[in-house]
Amino acid sequence: MREISLPLPGRDQSYRIYIDPGLRFRLPQLLVSLKFPRRCFLITDTRVGSLYGEQVLSILQEADYSPTLLTVPRGERAKTWPVAQRLARELLALGADRKSLCLALGGGVVGDLTGFLASIFMRGVPFIQVPTTLLAMVDAAIGGKTAINLPEGKNLLGTFHQPRLVAIDPQFLRSLPAAQRRNGLAEVIKHGFIQDLDLLSHLEKGPARIFRDEAELTEIIHRAAAIKAQVVAVDEREGGLRRILNFGHTLGHALEQASHFRLPHGEAVAWGMLAALRLSEKMAGLPPQEGAWGRRLIRQTGLARRPLHLDPQIVIEALPLDKKRREGRLVFVLLRRLGEPVIQEDIPLGLINEALQQEVFGGKR
Ligand SMILES: NC(=O)c1ccc[n+]([C@@H]2O[C@H](COP(=O)([O-])OP(=O)(O)OC[C@H]3O[C@@H](n4cnc5c(N)ncnc54)[C@H](O)[C@@H]3O)[C@@H](O)[C@H]2O)c1
Repeated sequence: MREISLPLPGRDQSYRIYIDPGLRFRLPQLLVSLKFPRRCFLITDTRVGSLYGEQVLSILQEADYSPTLLTVPRGERAKTWPVAQRLARELLALGADRKSLCLALGGGVVGDLTGFLASIFMRGVPFIQVPTTLLAMVDAAIGGKTAINLPEGKNLLGTFHQPRLVAIDPQFLRSLPAAQRRNGLAEVIKHGFIQDLDLLSHLEKGPARIFRDEAELTEIIHRAAAIKAQVVAVDEREGGLRRILNFGHTLGHALEQASHFRLPHGEAVAWGMLAALRLSEKMAGLPPQEGAWGRRLIRQTGLARRPLHLDPQIVIEALPLDKKRREGRLVFVLLRRLGEPVIQEDIPLGLINEALQQEVFGGKR
């Protein structure tokens, strides 16, 4: 079994991330080692619940745990205050107390919602993450950011609440639809670009081979999760280093917004990374052959292939609203070399426009 430790300096709470194919069958052993109470609450969404809910319940029951399954709708509409409140009331009705454990079984939506609820229920109860999407395995389940949405926007109510452990079973990905796989791969590529060239060379094998080969997939998840853990360990609250995780995201969010969130997040990030690589060549000295290699890798993964039909002006207008703005100036994460991120401020709008035209809106490739 692979293990990543996530120390949180200055805090007594550090935790471990375990990665192993079939790990869900050994979940009880992990819980026993942390002396969690036998009564626990498994929170999942309707799709993951129908695929794995009963199975995980019985794995826990057979080990003398007493779990209850709570199910929420699929997708962003679960990350809302009414759903969080409904879950809190169900927990109370089921006799949950301050020591009760919540388990998030699902993608980033279930993880964010469960984490949020666990952080405020009776002023905070422990929770663990059992991610079932690639995106959650390498990103959302690690780092303790929790959130729900408001009608005004995504992730506007949230807390920092670290899970007590993260149990990653790559076998969950067997049932993950191709579009969701690509979403996760976009974040994996991003982690490679900012920190791990070896990870990028693993990705060169292409998605079909990666998802067929469990050992390869486990290696990729391990590397990508380790990068997220390293960054969070240094900068839990996104004061500095954690910002490098936003590579490709500043433009990605603007594209998502301009598409009224019809563009999937991974696709948006992929387009954002394509343009950010181009900007990196112009502003940060990224050698053009490295930029071209990076762009090829993104497309080889099946991302950013269909041309985008968005109004460039609306995308540009969406930029200043980006929450990654610092003191009113647009801050971009760029690359000096592949694997060497740099925070760059005050990028001329003209250059952003040019990179968008070249990479996103069908200019020269
Ligand atoms: N907290 C963080 O640091 C952080 C980081 C990145 C993203 N996020 C959040 O994560 C969310 C996106 O997460 P996501 O991409 O995992 O989406 P998701 O949780 O909505 O899951 C995507 C879809 O896949 C289904 N699914 C999940 N696991 C499956 C499996 N093994 N087999 C078949 N279907 C499965 C789900 O039912 C859902 O329909 C967003 O809300 C985003 O804000 C949080």
